[in-house]
Amino acid sequence: MDENPLIRNTVFRDARAAQPDSGIPGFMITAEQIQIVDGTLKLMSETELLMADFYRVCSKLWSDNAAFWEEIAQDEVRHSQIILKMLELITARPGQYTLYYDFKPAGIEGFSGYVRKMRDRAVAGEISQLNLLALLKDMERCMIEEKFFIIVTTSNPEYRRLVDGILEDTSVHKDKIGLRLLELSQA
Ligand SMILES: [Fe+2]
Repeated sequence: MDENPLIRNTVFRDARAAQPDSGIPGFMITAEQIQIVDGTLKLMSETELLMADFYRVCSKLWSDNAAFWEEIAQDEVRHSQIILKMLELITARPGQYTLYYDFKPAGIEGFSGYVRKMRDRAVAGEISQLNLLALLKDMERCMIEEKFFIIVTTSNPEYRRLVDGILEDTSVHKDKIGLRLLELSQA
C-alpha cells in the first residue's frame, strides 16, 4: 500500500499552535497568499467529496449496514460545503485571519492525490474489506493529527465553530470505523 504523503510531508507540527489563542505568532495573509488559501481550501473541499465516495464504496460492500456508511458519506459531503463557507469567510474579511505558521499547501496537495488514488482503487475493488477499513480509519486520524483543516488562525467565532465541527465529526468517524474494524477483524 502506498505511503500516506501527509505523514512524510507533515503540514503542521505543533498541536498547540492549532489553537488560535495559543499565542504562537502567525503571519498576516497577503493578497498572494489568499490565492493559495483559495486553491487549497477548494482542493480540501474536493477531497471531502472523494472521502464521501469511499464511504459509498463501503455501503455497497457492507450493504447490511448501508445506513451506517451512508451517514458518514453525507457528513463528508456536508464538510465539503462547510470548507467552501470557511473560504467565503476568509475572503470577506482577510484582515481577521493569520496564515497558520506551518501551513504547507504541498502537503495537502499530496494528501489529496493519495485519497484520489486510493478512492479509485477502492471503486475498482482492488482493496480488501479489512484493508479498506484500516485505510479509512488512518485517513481520518491523519486529517486530525496532521492538522489538515488548520490553514489559518482567527478569533472569528463563526469560522472557529465551523472548523471545530469538522474536527469533531472527523474524530467520531475515526472511532466508529475503528470499532467496525475491531469487530470484523475478530469475526
Ligand atoms: Fe470524515
